[in-house]
Amino acid sequence: MTDVIEAILQRSSEPRLSAPAPSADELARLFECAFRAPDHALLRPWRYLIIEGEGLHALGELYARTGDSEEARDKLRKMPLRAPMVIVGITSPKPHPKVPQIEQSMSTAVGMGYLLLALNEAGYGGMWRTGALAYDSQVKSGLGLAEHESIAGFLYVGSVSSEKPAVPRPIMSELVSSWPAKP
Ligand SMILES: Cc1cc2nc3c(=O)[nH]c(=O)nc-3n(C[C@H](O)[C@H](O)[C@H](O)COP(=O)(O)O)c2cc1C
Repeated sequence: MTDVIEAILQRSSEPRLSAPAPSADELARLFECAFRAPDHALLRPWRYLIIEGEGLHALGELYARTGDSEEARDKLRKMPLRAPMVIVGITSPKPHPKVPQIEQSMSTAVGMGYLLLALNEAGYGGMWRTGALAYDSQVKSGLGLAEHESIAGFLYVGSVSSEKPAVPRPIMSELVSSWPAKP
């Protein structure tokens, strides 16, 4: 097995994260990986926000605005504090006659996947989260998204404090077939 295949097979999402998060130098290298995402017409239809420190509290306040009770708001306020860093992946689609918006969203998703993989390889953990918050107009505008932009996800990032149980993985015959079907 090559190192890259081994790295992919070892990757897993980790929800329990603590400090430290990657340094600025490490992030620069990790984002180089995200920017290797296949990208039809090289539109660069993605951008990212890095949120840490006080920013996480500000993000919590933004989340809390979407709650409809004090209890819900309390819970929402604490959500970004589950990790020392949150990276927001944003699709920023560009008009193009041959590249529909869905392809631009897919390109963002591939970059997010590369970023997660690179994070694992650099010794950190990450977890991709969305939920209603990713599609909420108050959250989007609070983060400075333009009307045409969308949130691909929040990557919670940090050092793994305890590993989650292994996720069962599919086997090839469940999901892969030949076409036309072999008799
Ligand atoms: C677009 C997207 C959104 C996700 N949102 C959530 C989420 O909000 N909450 C959650 O627990 N898992 C979410 N997940 C799933 C986890 O990130 C993770 O992939 C899953 O728990 C399986 O773990 P694994 O990556 O180790 O296979 C999301 C995954 C994707 C691709």
